[in-house]
Amino acid sequence: MESIDIKIDDGIGFIYFNRENKLNTVTVEMVNEIMDSMDDLKSKVNVIIIGGKKNFSAGADINQFKNLNPVNAYKFHLKLNELLKYFRDYDLPVISVLNGYVLGGGLELSLSTDIRICSTTAVLGQPEINIGINAGAGGNVILSKVIGRNRALYMILTGEKIDAKKAYEFGLVDIISDNPENEALRIAKIIKEKPVNTVKLAKRVVNKSFDTNLDLSVDYEATVFGLLFSDNETKSRIDKFFKK
Ligand code: COA
Repeated sequence: MESIDIKIDDGIGFIYFNRENKLNTVTVEMVNEIMDSMDDLKSKVNVIIIGGKKNFSAGADINQFKNLNPVNAYKFHLKLNELLKYFRDYDLPVISVLNGYVLGGGLELSLSTDIRICSTTAVLGQPEINIGINAGAGGNVILSKVIGRNRALYMILTGEKIDAKKAYEFGLVDIISDNPENEALRIAKIIKEKPVNTVKLAKRVVNKSFDTNLDLSVDYEATVFGLLFSDNETKSRIDKFFKK
């Protein structure tokens, strides 16, 4: 892998972006490498932590936009969209560690992770408007669902960078920490000890509830609840509870 490093430690998979000299800006190769490595990690770990050492990502690598025609520009964002959907449909939880710059495509990528842990010194934003482009990988659509229409429009239309405190107040990040790597690891270790099928199905039920109406999603929730009674791990945990 050229743009990322992978580590596996005791049931937790780590994906580190490895283009710090370019502020971990996102390329098509990087997107493909992330998905390939996550395919591979699926059978080896229970939780994934993703991020950069100094920066999460300053967005799409603008060098790729040189001489880009409209069709290829569209295709570029289809590729990023593929990654966003991949994160969402990925069985296992993905925790992002947001430090340094978290801009444009970097912020969009983090929006599709499951838990966002942000450094107190991180800088977040959707600066695309400054070069006359619009976000193309959820920076309008998912952002406005996560933080609300008005706050999203403030970020999109001004291109202003915001600090971690404001991002937390907006609901753009879930936890702020002086040591986001440690906090992500602490949370990953807790999740890793939970029954893996229950974890996978919980993520699935939450995600499906965004795609379907309330009737169907609570019905699906009840179905999954029933299904888990066929899982030996669930049975043994309930038995253990009664024995205690
Ligand atoms: N695409 C390609 N290269 C980028 C980049 C991007 N989105 N953002 C930063 N870089 C490169 C810079 O060109 C520079 O490369 P160099 O060392 O070869 O000259 C390197 O990363 C460091 O960036 P620099 O601007 O020197 O750092 P800084 O700390 O002064 O500023 C930013 C950092 C992120 C505020 C500034 O680089 C910036 O505004 N980048 C664009 C962010 C953006 O618009 N993202 C959305 C893209 S659609």
